[in-house]
Amino acid sequence: MVNPRSFLVLALFFIFFNPSLGGLVSFNVLDSGAKPDGKTDSTKAFLNAWAAACGSVTPATVYVPPGRYLLLDTIFRGQCKNRAITIQIEGTLVAPSDYGVLGNAGNWLSFEYVDGVSIYGGILDGQGIGLWACKASGKSCPSGATSLSFTNSNNIVINGLTSLNSQLYHIVINGCQNVKVQDVRVSASRKSPNTDGIHVQLSTGVTILGAKIKTGDDCISIGAGTNNLWIENVACGPGHGISIGSLGKDLQEPGVQNVTVKTVTFTGSQNGVRIKSWGRPSSGFVKGVLFQHALMVNVQNPIVIDQNYCPNNQGCPGEVSGVKISDVTYQDIHGTSATEVAVKFDCSSKNPCSGITLQDVKLTYLNQPADASCVNAEGMASGLVEPTSCL
Ligand SMILES: *[C@@H]1O[C@H](CO)[C@@H](O)[C@H](O)[C@H]1NC(C)=O
Repeated sequence: MVNPRSFLVLALFFIFFNPSLGGLVSFNVLDSGAKPDGKTDSTKAFLNAWAAACGSVTPATVYVPPGRYLLLDTIFRGQCKNRAITIQIEGTLVAPSDYGVLGNAGNWLSFEYVDGVSIYGGILDGQGIGLWACKASGKSCPSGATSLSFTNSNNIVINGLTSLNSQLYHIVINGCQNVKVQDVRVSASRKSPNTDGIHVQLSTGVTILGAKIKTGDDCISIGAGTNNLWIENVACGPGHGISIGSLGKDLQEPGVQNVTVKTVTFTGSQNGVRIKSWGRPSSGFVKGVLFQHALMVNVQNPIVIDQNYCPNNQGCPGEVSGVKISDVTYQDIHGTSATEVAVKFDCSSKNPCSGITLQDVKLTYLNQPADASCVNAEGMASGLVEPTSCL
């Protein structure tokens, strides 16, 4: 006779042991009651599957089969009993179509205080179109929610995820260490407001590889307190480019240091590689940036530093930026500008930009060399530089 207790242990073992996932315990959201119909609220089912994976003492997988799953604003919290949780998504996670439901939630799907979480695959549908229309109409509207955020978390992988039509930002990495964002797709209308593709702030050791981003705001935005960021093989456009900033929101602000942006293509975007700060006092700084191998295709501002940043000229602080920008290299940047001024350095009179290097830059406007404009910028040019450097 098999004793009932060991039978139960064996049964549980066979339910959760999934050889196709490399011997991890696996929790299928359908088993905890999720409905793949796109209409039934599956938030509790996802949270239960997460709780099971988080409580597992061995590496665990949350598995989301094909189908559409309606989720309300959801926080997946650490501290977990293991540091290897995989979320394998073959379906689409759908936000409520009525933007009043998320309202001012700020975040739709968020991970907080987690360590060792990897998301593979999946589509996030933020259903932002209604909220964008409300904002465009000038009515009073809720601010909305970022689709996916990781806060105060370490050792994170986001691989092969697609984010569609977020209400606000698509993906935010905030207060994290060691994050790999790989082969992510982002898609939203060129007119959608504040729909940054990937925003990084207060984080160290973030790598973004192979992203394809079409959106209405920055493709990638890099906020205060970002260190050791590596961006490579990114396609951006439509969108507002890859931006460091906006900085100088606060008087006391951590700096941005050691950023590499390499092998990127901008197509029809508002900006290419940009650094922006508000015109007001701040302890912030930008130091040690390499923009290398960029192709610009009909980009309005291919290379820009703007220390008088003030979109729509509304509520501009009108002071001198305290943000200190130094050691920024532009290497092998070529293509076409959609405006006459292809290189613009508008730096702070209090803290002029220093150590700016242009090397092998060739940007044209209507098949002619474009123009460059410099205010309070010091540095040097080497190799072929067109437009002629104003440094
Ligand atoms: C700069 O960041 C890269 C990762 O992007 C890292 O490999 C390198 O060690 C960092 N350099 C310094 C001096 O910290």
